Amino acid sequence: MKKRLILGAMALLMLFPAKAQIAWQQVEPGVWKGIVGTPEEYSLLSVAGVTPQKEGFSRLPEVTLPGLANEIVGTIQDGKTSLRIPLQRKEQLYGFGLNFQTVHQRGKILNLHVDHYGGRDNGRTHAPVPFYISSQGYGVLINSARYLTVYAGSGARKDSPNAPVAKDRNLDKTWTSAPYSDAVSILVPAPGTEIYLFAGPTPMDVIRRYNLFCGGGTLPPRWGLGFTQRTKKLYTAEDVKKEADEFEQRGFPLDFIGLEPGWQSKAYPCTFEWDATRYPNPAGFVKEMLDRGVRINLWTNPYVSPESKIYKDMYPVSGSHTVWCGIVPDLAGEKARRIWMDKLEQEHVSIGVSGYKVDEVDGYDRYVWPDVATFPSGIAAEQMRQTYGLWVQRTTAELYKKRNQRTFGLVRASNAGAASFPYVIYNDYYSHQDFITALINSGFSGVLWTPEVRSSKSSEDWLRRFQSVVFSPMAMINAWASGTKPWTFPEVENQIKEYAMLRMQMMPYWYSEFARYHFDGIPPFRAMSLEPGFNPEQGSTAKLSDAHLEDNPYLEAVSKEIKDQYMAGEYLLVAPMFTGQTERMVVLPKGDWYDFYTGKYVGNGEKITVTPGLDRIPVYVKDGAILPFMEARLHAPKAGEKVNLEIRHYGKADGAYRLYDDDGETFDYEKGAYSWRDIKVTRDKKGKLKGTISKAEKGKPNNVANVTWKFMTEE
Ligand code: GAL
Repeated sequence: MKKRLILGAMALLMLFPAKAQIAWQQVEPGVWKGIVGTPEEYSLLSVAGVTPQKEGFSRLPEVTLPGLANEIVGTIQDGKTSLRIPLQRKEQLYGFGLNFQTVHQRGKILNLHVDHYGGRDNGRTHAPVPFYISSQGYGVLINSARYLTVYAGSGARKDSPNAPVAKDRNLDKTWTSAPYSDAVSILVPAPGTEIYLFAGPTPMDVIRRYNLFCGGGTLPPRWGLGFTQRTKKLYTAEDVKKEADEFEQRGFPLDFIGLEPGWQSKAYPCTFEWDATRYPNPAGFVKEMLDRGVRINLWTNPYVSPESKIYKDMYPVSGSHTVWCGIVPDLAGEKARRIWMDKLEQEHVSIGVSGYKVDEVDGYDRYVWPDVATFPSGIAAEQMRQTYGLWVQRTTAELYKKRNQRTFGLVRASNAGAASFPYVIYNDYYSHQDFITALINSGFSGVLWTPEVRSSKSSEDWLRRFQSVVFSPMAMINAWASGTKPWTFPEVENQIKEYAMLRMQMMPYWYSEFARYHFDGIPPFRAMSLEPGFNPEQGSTAKLSDAHLEDNPYLEAVSKEIKDQYMAGEYLLVAPMFTGQTERMVVLPKGDWYDFYTGKYVGNGEKITVTPGLDRIPVYVKDGAILPFMEARLHAPKAGEKVNLEIRHYGKADGAYRLYDDDGETFDYEKGAYSWRDIKVTRDKKGKLKGTISKAEKGKPNNVANVTWKFMTEE
């Protein structure tokens, strides 16, 4: 009898799966956590080890639980969790990780899966962050380390109050194969998950809350914002020294050099040990480079060669499968992390190596471990794939944190919770256009991205790519295969030098903007749609009938998205030129905009067509902007070193900016050793613009020597 009852109950459960509204618990101001079913302990946020940047929330508007919260439903069926989050008509969605070809995500079906980007925005990418932002001013994060299937406004329930209306394909031209859908549905292949809801009110506030929740954005060392070159893979210590000297002699800036696989005795798989012929005296070499003002960054992947001295110790704490015949440290376990960290510490960090480029943690199914692999920690291969990039970032970042020394490096995989990690994502895909779209999307996902320059078929392409990378988180030439140098194309050498120096001159701006990323969660590189006064209607390129657009938000989205211009810091709108282009359209948000180079007025809330010539990447500046520049120099200022500032003002409006300062190298800012100085531009009695900067606070870091003012816009 009893057995029958149980069986009956089970049958009922199968018919009517456990469906529940979610009980929301506020975890930070404007951030709520919901639990569906039984969430797994191992999650994206647990791996990232997130500690919110609490103080930053105090500068955001007070908000209450978005009404939408009560309409979000979680269902457990078949051992899996499905989530349903309603959508309104016209609502647009952004995020879902590092996409390369699209900014608007409504209508997409995505399988969020860490992978090398394969040319399609299908969810397989370097940072498939399960976080999205709605144009309605809320955001959702699914804290699961599983491969998630996302229907971002695709699929219609028969009982939906907003179900699409059936159309007759025979005669109705507005029939569409993708009927209107009124919800985001997400399938989590686990019997439970945490879901987080972030309030706005604006989409930018949502992103700020997400970044602050994840620890605040990373604050790179000052030198990390200088210029970096990665050398050819078999370079010797002598080659590297010679190259650094050549940068100096030719007057090109250089703050760190990246060594590619050949610094190791064996690579693919890796020993993590220096090659004794190419680098006979690693400590001496690193020191000599530091004396030149150039730091060393080391390429590696984490797959351990049988010839590495740590192979034996690592073997029992590695996964069942190999990658290029190297064992895979089970970084979910303390022991594997310890072995790896000790090795890096002993071989590199202790002799002054400044950071790493951790490669190939993203995948390509044909070489990383398959999903049937097992790991001693008991973590599933799938979960390991989703989090390996987080582990390598967290582990290596800890090495530097322990020494109270900041690092800034590169990584090829990441995920949710990574905002505070000092890493920039890159890849091998090399489409200039798509690199810019990735830069835009990085700002929706709490990650940084560099549109690196490698080689080019023409000097035009070289210069165009170089101009873009200067307006990105990491100004880098990656010459591991090509051996190109900034002066490789003599016809554009001067232009390249001008932009490399511009990068250096703008360091006080970049540094302050990264401080805003850290303290306020504002992404330094981000989409136009986050800019007040930006009207997406202006960007519309497709000629689709209105009825069609109304029914199909996906087409509507794609027809309007702006994916080739972006905001860089508070004031700059960057509109890269691509090879072959002589003119382009730029969409200016409302408000007066000025040319970055000349200070001349260019427009207000309109589309303009520009023909800047090869020497210029179009950059526009907001009215009242204040841009702190420093003197051009070849290396970032060291801790305590004073520099002269030239403060530029653009337009006619008064301006106010906060200039950030600290030692630029340590974590002492976390203990209060930093300062913000108020810069103001206002009109005097005669109506003339005048600038002031507040005094440096006593006992606080101050890198400013003399200040001069430049009013870029002629009155
Ligand atoms: C690739 C990486 C390149 C370069 C190369 C060296 O996987 O994306 O940037 O480091 O490996 O072998």
